[in-house]
Amino acid sequence: MDLAVFRALEPLCWRAPSAHNTQPWRLRYERWAVTVGWDPTDALPAGDPTGRDLRLSLGAFVETCLIVAADAGLRLDWVADLDAADRRVGRLRPARHPYRTPFRTPEVWDRRTDRGRFTDGPDADVIAAVDAVARRSGGAVHVVPDGGRVGALLRAADRHVYGDPAVVAELRRWLRLDPARRDYRADGLTDRCLGLSRPAAVGLRAALAAYPVLRPLGLPRALAAAGGDPLARGGALLALVAPADLDPAGQVEFGRVLLRVWLTVQAAGLAAHPLSQLVDVAGSRDALGALLDVEPGRILHVTRVGRPVGPAPRSARRVDPGAGAATFAEPVPAP
Ligand SMILES: Cc1cc2nc3c(=O)[nH]c(=O)nc-3n(C[C@H](O)[C@H](O)[C@H](O)COP(=O)(O)O)c2cc1C
Repeated sequence: MDLAVFRALEPLCWRAPSAHNTQPWRLRYERWAVTVGWDPTDALPAGDPTGRDLRLSLGAFVETCLIVAADAGLRLDWVADLDAADRRVGRLRPARHPYRTPFRTPEVWDRRTDRGRFTDGPDADVIAAVDAVARRSGGAVHVVPDGGRVGALLRAADRHVYGDPAVVAELRRWLRLDPARRDYRADGLTDRCLGLSRPAAVGLRAALAAYPVLRPLGLPRALAAAGGDPLARGGALLALVAPADLDPAGQVEFGRVLLRVWLTVQAAGLAAHPLSQLVDVAGSRDALGALLDVEPGRILHVTRVGRPVGPAPRSARRVDPGAGAATFAEPVPAP
């Protein structure tokens, strides 16, 4: 019964965050459980070759499902069961009690990545709160010391990312720079969410179309510079640090932690702006590890956090609460 009711809530769960807004999750309704899997066409093999961000995104989706279900009074819990061959991370299944969480559906609904200007960073209480969230799962949240060093790392990481034709091609596939196209309202990264003016969006589209020709002429450097310096837009950088030897299943669990961290930040009136390139690029991740005095492989995610000047634009989803259940869902079998 709770599973059938959950299906109607599914569009709310799709508000979960995902790298490049690919929304890789897929739900399979079975008699006694809902399996959470993923579609490899929504993975990012060039930008996320290890699948770390895929698993973090799937974990964030699982946590979002649990919050939405609990807020509706549904008794569902989570059984982790990562199986790469079956492309599943586990199952939501009926439980005796609703999932225990301090968060509610309106917070899931309101959460959004904010790439804009922040007036302040998180204070000591917020940092202690997010660190406590991570510590309950054996991780930690560290504040990245500011100063020129991180800015240089970020610029180097951006140049590295924009210098890789496969990564750029993948980014281009997920950029949504033309509001007239249907997919603008479905998924990916819109010009509005990226904070691009219309001329900047048109310029970026033209530059990416000419990438093969312009790459040897310094386009990667120009693209890296065009985004401006996110650190200059305020806030503080927080790194989510995993326990040593976190395996792929553990990364899914830490996607759940990541969502709890972001909702904790949001509850304090702050917003998060991930900067994954600092972790994606080996040289930047190693330097960050040295800066934080942690083994670089343990750094799972880096986010700029601060008090936004206003609400950020809302990102697109393939399903919305008015549209009924997700089109990918299979029918619920009769009990
Ligand atoms: C694992 C993960 C990594 C992400 N990395 C970045 C990033 O490097 N830069 C960025 O601007 N946004 C990043 N994001 C934010 C996504 O782009 C964002 O969640 C998505 O576009 C949906 O927008 P929303 O969070 O506002 O709902 C990341 C999100 C996740 C879950």
